[in-house]
Amino acid sequence: MAFINENYFKLKAGYLFPEIGRRVKDFSTANPGKKIIRMGIGDVTQPLVPSVIKAFHEGVEEMASAQSFKGYGPEQGYAFLREAIAENDYKSRGVDISADDIFVSDGSKCDTGNIQEIFGFNNRIAIGDPVYPVYADTTVMSGKTGLCAENGYFEGIIYMPCTAQNNFVPELPKEKADLIFLCFPNNPTGAVATKEQLKKWVDYAIANKSIILYDAAYEAYITDDSIPHSIYEIEGAKKVAIEFRSFSKTAGFTGTRCAFTVVPSELLAYDGEGKAHAVKPLWMRRQTTKFNGVSYPVQKAAAAIYTPEGKKETKAVIEYYLENASIMKKKLSEAGFSVFGGVNAPYVWVQTKNNMKSWDFFDKLLKEAGVVGTPGSGFGPSGEGYFRFSAFADRANVIEAMDKVQKLFK
Ligand code: MLT
Repeated sequence: MAFINENYFKLKAGYLFPEIGRRVKDFSTANPGKKIIRMGIGDVTQPLVPSVIKAFHEGVEEMASAQSFKGYGPEQGYAFLREAIAENDYKSRGVDISADDIFVSDGSKCDTGNIQEIFGFNNRIAIGDPVYPVYADTTVMSGKTGLCAENGYFEGIIYMPCTAQNNFVPELPKEKADLIFLCFPNNPTGAVATKEQLKKWVDYAIANKSIILYDAAYEAYITDDSIPHSIYEIEGAKKVAIEFRSFSKTAGFTGTRCAFTVVPSELLAYDGEGKAHAVKPLWMRRQTTKFNGVSYPVQKAAAAIYTPEGKKETKAVIEYYLENASIMKKKLSEAGFSVFGGVNAPYVWVQTKNNMKSWDFFDKLLKEAGVVGTPGSGFGPSGEGYFRFSAFADRANVIEAMDKVQKLFK
């Protein structure tokens, strides 16, 4: 008899975004021809920039000749990409991250989910509420939790509410947490953490021998110079943090797939006897066993964003999305909503009106305006009564969608 992983049955519904897709599909089947503007899943709409496309083509051409053909690549990713990352994403900001501590992968979603495999079963895991649902869902799948309680919280997870009262930046947990997921700029609220706020977390992790799992997939959207782009801008963080970064939202790679994770050589975790062990060799072992790397043309394309032209072009696309966010904030505020985020992040987080539940707001917007967003409750119980709009649509659609929302709620 084959036994199923029953932990999957603890998960309430389907994964958030396919669930939205299902509802939208049902609606469009029932209403053929009705225009739908998608601002739900944070999927980019602008094409890969010319420098990236050029490098991508060159990479493909190299695969077409026996002299330059590449088979399996280096497991951690090609040195040319890891060195470009170390130089441009870290050294240029005064952070010394070695290219040897960078692992190229096909996505931060996979890495933030898979990372738990290298940590013991008895870790207490702290997760923001609301936040990117992958952290909680993969914790449940791994069997580290009990059932979901009435309040939407899984037994065994330490939830850290992120509310308007704390500007959507969680407080240090009262209980001792061993692994702490932090996401800044935050998905879904768009909140950012200051150096002082991050220092508190790093100090907490050092004092408690905990590890911070820092998801910085949206760092390219930071516009405020005082906000750290990396947890490693905080002294001591290399000893207690893993950082996840992605080319998806930075350079339009959602369909192309490329990301990276930094596991510093200094990072330690402990065995049952309290003996310290380096974490990096375990991640190396996990990746070399279960992952064969990202294709050469994709890594070559990713490296092109660090050329002078590539930097200029990707910056222009990010500015385009941020301008969308600014238009959305303005129009939603005019419609009388309390609006958050959208300044250092591509997400605009709004409070629904008249205590409307997030999914009711979703249905109303879809049915009466043909606009799709993401219900805040899908990111955690504290997201109930909120709604996330993604700024990744194209400009004409952003304006049309916001005009429709204004009409519906003014
Ligand atoms: C989101 O909409 O939250 C993201 O697109 C999901 C992801 O990056 O996996």
